[in-house]
Formats: sequence, structure tokens, C-alpha cells
Amino acid sequence: MHNIPVTVPPNAAADLIMLAQQTAAKWGLTYRNHIGSGLALVQQFSHLELRQLDEPKVGAVLVDFASDALTFRRLHGGGKKEAIARAIGLKGQDSLHVLDATAGLGRDAFVLASLGCVVDMIERSAVVAALLQDGLNRAAADIELGTWLPANMQLYHGVATELLTDWSHEKPDVVYLDPMFPHRRKNAAVKKEMRLFQQLLGPDEDADLLLEPALALAKKRVVVKRPTGAPFLAGKKPQIEMLGKANRFDVYLTHLKTK
Ligand SMILES: C[S@@+](CC[C@H](N)C(=O)[O-])C[C@H]1O[C@@H](n2cnc3c(N)ncnc32)[C@H](O)[C@@H]1O
Repeated sequence: MHNIPVTVPPNAAADLIMLAQQTAAKWGLTYRNHIGSGLALVQQFSHLELRQLDEPKVGAVLVDFASDALTFRRLHGGGKKEAIARAIGLKGQDSLHVLDATAGLGRDAFVLASLGCVVDMIERSAVVAALLQDGLNRAAADIELGTWLPANMQLYHGVATELLTDWSHEKPDVVYLDPMFPHRRKNAAVKKEMRLFQQLLGPDEDADLLLEPALALAKKRVVVKRPTGAPFLAGKKPQIEMLGKANRFDVYLTHLKTK
């Protein structure tokens, strides 16, 4: 994993520099002034963003739960009929407690939280966790999202294999896993965000280690999101495979455990 600094745009005001230094200190990252190349977290007054500084055309990656795309999906998406909702077993008036142990930029977690789930999230990358927490903070101040989102989404920065094993909070109904999978070929359809992510994190080579502690913790099921055609996590066959266009949800029913 690279050492990604926190920086500011050129000619930044002293207040912004101070904000960037606080962000760096909070997440154990280094603050660097005046850098012009490489991947960096750039502190703006309004938000925090990840940028490839020498490729301005690639655009910035940030977490915006109030974006048009997520708002449209929240208001006009398939609701509890969405594949992810069916995979976690969300039905009728149910509300489930989900632990998303590979949170990333929190998109899946947000979809579940907006369907009424209480979602705890774990993210091990300080850079990704900083972006996600920044998005959560802005959502908390949003006139619409602020009324429900802070109660439904909470981030823990740490390594999931450890946190799942030592989980001292209420046991989740569902543990959701979506580790990075190596992409076989580069193509234009791999979104900018995914490309920056791959550059930042690489594939999660240790992903297989997540399954056992997840199975031990989840009260009802473990759901693993995989690209279509990818092998099962840890080589373990799920009870249910839900096939979608680009992804598959592998569902392991833990209430069938005999222990
Ligand atoms: C593909 S992304 C998840 C995307 C997410 N589902 C979304 O909708 O935005 C995978 C993330 O899991 C994180 N991750 C992988 N293994 C982890 C582990 N053992 N503990 C905590 N985070 C992990 C990676 O750092 C990465 O940010």
C-alpha cells in the first residue's frame, strides 16, 4: 500500500492548510504542501477528495451521498427488490443490522441504510476511511440525509479480520463482504474511481481470510459480492448464488450452523 499524503490546492489559505493538517493527523497520514504529482488526498473547504495530481482529467474521487446518482437510486431504485436487498434477506417491514466489513466508499452500505438497515462499516485503508468519514459528516449536515443517516451508518477504521473476531458490539444479522477482486483487463468501463482504487489499494489478496470470522459472527447470513465468474471466497460453496449482470451475490446461511 502506498503512502498517500494529504495536501491542499495551490495558493491555499492558512485555514485550509490547518484543516488539511488536522485531517492528516486524524488518519495517521502525512501532510505535504506544494505537491504536483502522484496520488494524494486534497483537502478542500467543502470536502476531501482523492486525486491523481498529474492527471487532472481523471477527476476527483469523493464520497457524496447526496449526489444525483445516489439520490435517484434511493428514491426511484428497486427498493427491497434490489439484488443486494434480496441477497441480504431484507423483506417487508424488516430492518436488518448489517456489518459491511469491506466498506470502501460506502455505496453498498448507503443503499442498505437507505432501505432501513442499520449498517456498521469497517475499512482498513486510512485514505478510504478518511474519504468515507468525510462523506458521512457532510451527509449528517444535509437537510434530508441528516434526519436518518447518522443513526444508520457508522464507520470503524480497522482490519476486518481482527474486528470481526473481537466484535464487542451487538452481533449483526448479516456480514456483507465485497473485497477488491483483480480485474483481468483494463477497459474504459472500469470507472475512474475503480482505477484510482486499484492504483491505491491493489487487489485484497487476503480476502479469503474474511469468510471464517464473518460466518462465526453473523446471526443470519454472510453475503459476498463477487464479479460474475469469479471463484467462491475461500473456495467455499454458498447455499445460494444470485447471478446478476456483472456481479454475483454468494449467500451463506449461518442460522443453519449446527454449533
Ligand atoms: C471493492 S471495495 C468495497 C466497495 C463497497 N462495497 C462500495 O459499495 O463502495 C473493497 C474495500 O474493502 C477494504 N478491505 C479489504 N479487505 C479488508 C479488511 N480485511 N479489513 C477492512 N477493510 C478491508 C478495501 O480497503 C477496500 O476499500
